[in-house]
Amino acid sequence: METRLDPKIVQAINGENDEAKKAGTRPCLMNRRQFLLTGGIATTVVMVGIPNMAEAQTPAVISTYPRKFITKLSSLKVDEPFDFLYPDEGDYSESMLVKLGTKAGGGIGPKEDVVGFNYTCTHQGGPLQGTYQAADKALGPCPLHLTTFDLTRHGIFISGQAYQSLPQVLLELEGDDIFAVGMFGLIYGRFDNLRG
Ligand code: FES
Repeated sequence: METRLDPKIVQAINGENDEAKKAGTRPCLMNRRQFLLTGGIATTVVMVGIPNMAEAQTPAVISTYPRKFITKLSSLKVDEPFDFLYPDEGDYSESMLVKLGTKAGGGIGPKEDVVGFNYTCTHQGGPLQGTYQAADKALGPCPLHLTTFDLTRHGIFISGQAYQSLPQVLLELEGDDIFAVGMFGLIYGRFDNLRG
């Protein structure tokens, strides 16, 4: 199977740019364009090549995320999470939206401060419901091994046992309506976000 990714996508995944390369650093925060570009990998068409059968190149089956209405932007209050299920109603789909009151990676709205995350800890699946910390704009500590995740920086872990960021829900704003349109990162307990 041959998969070709656009160099810009690879660059977005790695968080690299020319200045960062010169300085030997990698910025953590992606801008919104990079974030959406990276999330778009989920819908990238993958061509499957069969040896000696050039004419048999066919697009693989593509799964796409549902576009789901979540709530109204005007109904959100700063530091009050809004819970929902995404991308389906199966295991580990519990997620949350929150208006942080401060600009965040992947944030939407006039202040780019509305973000969405899955509630399942990436370490061993601990439930993060009810752990939002307004002072730190974070989720955690996880009740199992105390990991805390930074919601202003794409859910990166701040402390604890997890070593993967919390999956972030890709959001779109249409007028006052907020839609979930994808996920950035693998949900704990799933081998594929869309197939359980
Ligand atoms: S399950 Fe959350 S820190 Fe271990």
